Parts: sequence; structure tokens; C-alpha cells
Amino acid sequence: MTLDEQTRADFPILRRIVHGQPLVYLDSAASSQKPRQVLEAMQSYYEQTHDEAARDAVRVFMGARVREEVIFTRGTTDGINIVARALALTLEPGDEILVTEMEHHSNLIPWQMVCRERGAVVKAVPVVGEGVLDQDAFGHLLSPRTRLVALAHVSNVLGTINPVTDMTRRAHEAGALVLLDGAQAAPHLALDVAAMGCDFYVFSGHKMLGPTGIGVLYGRREVLERLEPGLGGSEMIKEVWIDHAQWNDLPWRFEPGTPPIAEAVGLHAAVVYLDKLGMARVEAHERALCRIAMDALERIPGVTLYGPRNAELKGAVVAFNVEGIHPHDGAALLDERGIGVRAGHHCAQPLMRRLGIVGTLRASFSVYNTAAEIARLSEAVQSLRGAL
Ligand SMILES: Cc1ncc(COP(=O)(O)O)c(C=O)c1O
Repeated sequence: MTLDEQTRADFPILRRIVHGQPLVYLDSAASSQKPRQVLEAMQSYYEQTHDEAARDAVRVFMGARVREEVIFTRGTTDGINIVARALALTLEPGDEILVTEMEHHSNLIPWQMVCRERGAVVKAVPVVGEGVLDQDAFGHLLSPRTRLVALAHVSNVLGTINPVTDMTRRAHEAGALVLLDGAQAAPHLALDVAAMGCDFYVFSGHKMLGPTGIGVLYGRREVLERLEPGLGGSEMIKEVWIDHAQWNDLPWRFEPGTPPIAEAVGLHAAVVYLDKLGMARVEAHERALCRIAMDALERIPGVTLYGPRNAELKGAVVAFNVEGIHPHDGAALLDERGIGVRAGHHCAQPLMRRLGIVGTLRASFSVYNTAAEIARLSEAVQSLRGAL
């Protein structure tokens, strides 16, 4: 049985009829649909004992060594900001944060903010060729002033899977910490943060079959232990006096406020669901869809694809443009045929500038998508060309 045959019935929304046709949902990179197992777990959470089981499940899912390394956040953006606020307390004027040209704004703006505050500098590794990072330039940009390298594990536009284990090793040799933005990787690849060696790894629940409002920040224990929290209140303290306080133990030290408990229960159900499918199967299914989509779209005259052409080198997204059609118009026309894709700059304006375009269309895939849906996409894109 293929993965979509196995999973489709679990996603009630996919039975929806849009403009007389079954909905084709190709925007899971923005937010995936949720299986009924996740919805039911959240509905019944008040009846369950919340014994931090979600944290243990996430620890195993991502390959963290100990539960103290698993911090619950509101999402990828929140996780990056938690690290940025903590690092801000240690940055000196002239220090450098190294990002890349393919970052989502969420992995850029927090660094701009702390650098402005502390007199530090943001630098970026260029994107070259088919949409990969210039590894020579990376070597030259690393310096004794580099305090942190912050980069996407998988690009949300190009789909590029970056060589994060090697880049982490090189960054460490230069004395820098490493934060990996796993928003597009966690739903798609088997993770092993300990093997990658990174210091921080962040992702969002809502892109991996789970609810909104929950995400994960992995922090290597040795690093978390020496960082001061940059955000305060509620769960992150042990004992409080009027003029000072004693921080809580890890991981709660970096979890200010009342935790999103129902959402953690939902994320737990999503992780259980993905584990049952097996991440190797999830990856193979989504990779096959990606390959079919690239093969079909590439054959249509006037279509330009962005990112690596080899599906082995990319995540579950295919960004493309159709000559003579603005991405927003293209998305509106596809929507009329019941096909939901995303259009625009995808919160990656520096990358758009590097590619010399205003935006792209983007189809992205999850466990429930089928080859037949990709065929409907390519027929519809073909008819866009015909409509010109
Ligand atoms: C690579 C990447 N980073 C960060 C984000 C931000 O995620 P969130 O809005 O869940 O915080 C996204 C979401 O689109 C993303 O694709």
C-alpha cells in the first residue's frame, strides 16, 4: 500500500470539494493538514495525565540525548527568538552572526535585531548554481568573530538540503555555535540532532501534521547550561525575590509562561503518527512526488524550476514560475481549479533578490498527496500557458 492510500482517510479535510473537484492541497510546507488522531488527542487532553510524555516522544523523534535538551516553544520563529534573546546577552560589538541568502525571514530578522542592539554584524553565505550554498565562501566568511552560524536544514523555496553536519563541524572548528532551522526538514527527514552536532535545532508542529502554537527548540545541554535565559516569567523560575530570582532547571528555564499543553499533546500525537508510518517511508514518498512533479513541470514550455533538479538533494517543495504569468495570478488560476499552491516571496526576499525574481509558485507535499494530484497540477499549469 502506498503512503497516501494508507493515510488519506485520516485527513477529513481532503474529502472537501472545491469548485466541483476534490481539493488538491499542495501547500503543506506552509502548514500541513492534521490527521484525526491529532485532533482527537487535543480534544481529549483534559482527561489525560500530562506527564511530559510529549517531551520524551519528541526527544526520541529528533535524536536528542536527554529530555533537558527539548524545549517547547510556540514555533520555529519563537525558538529562534529565544536563542537570539539569550545570545544577545553575550554578544560584543564587532561580533558576527553568519546566516545564508536562502534563509526564511524568521531566521534573519531576530539576528538583525540583536546585532543592531549589540553593535554586531550579520553576514550571509551566498547561494550559487542550482540553489546551493557556496561552500568556499562559507570557509572565507567564518572568522574568529563568528559567534553563531544560523542556517536552514532544508530551504523552504529551493528545497535544498544543506550539508549541515559538515558545515556544523567547520563552524565549530572556527569557534562558532550553530543553529539549524529545521522547519522544512522535521516533517520530511529522519532527524538525528546529536549526530548532526548542532547546538540548536528548531521546528514547528503545524508543518508536521501537528497543531499551530507549538514548536521545539533543541539545545545541546552543555550550551544551554552556560546560557542565561533572555525571556522571563512564570515557568522559567524556581524561587523569586523582589529584586532577583533563581532560574528553573533545564528545559523549563527556557520556557517562560504557561506552556501550550493541548498543543504539546497534539504534537505528541503527530510524532506518534509519523513514527508509525516511519520517517524513511515518509521521505521516500515525498521524494517520489517531488521527482514526478519536477519531471512533469519541466516538460511544459515556459516553466522555470528553482532549486536542485535532483530530488535526492531536496526536500518536499518545488518552486517554479510560468513565463508571462505573475505567481499570484498563477496561484489564483490554479485555485479556481481546486488546486492550492502558494505564491509569493515565501518570506525569503533576499533569496528572491539573488534569483532576480519577484516570487514563485510553490507546490509542496506531505504524506497524503498522490501522484494523481501532481498530474492534475501539471495539467492545470499547462492550461495556464494555453490561456495566455
Ligand atoms: C524554513 C522556515 N523557517 C521558519 C519558518 C517559520 O515558521 P513558523 O511560522 O511556524 O514560526 C518557516 C515557515 O514557513 C520556514 O519554512
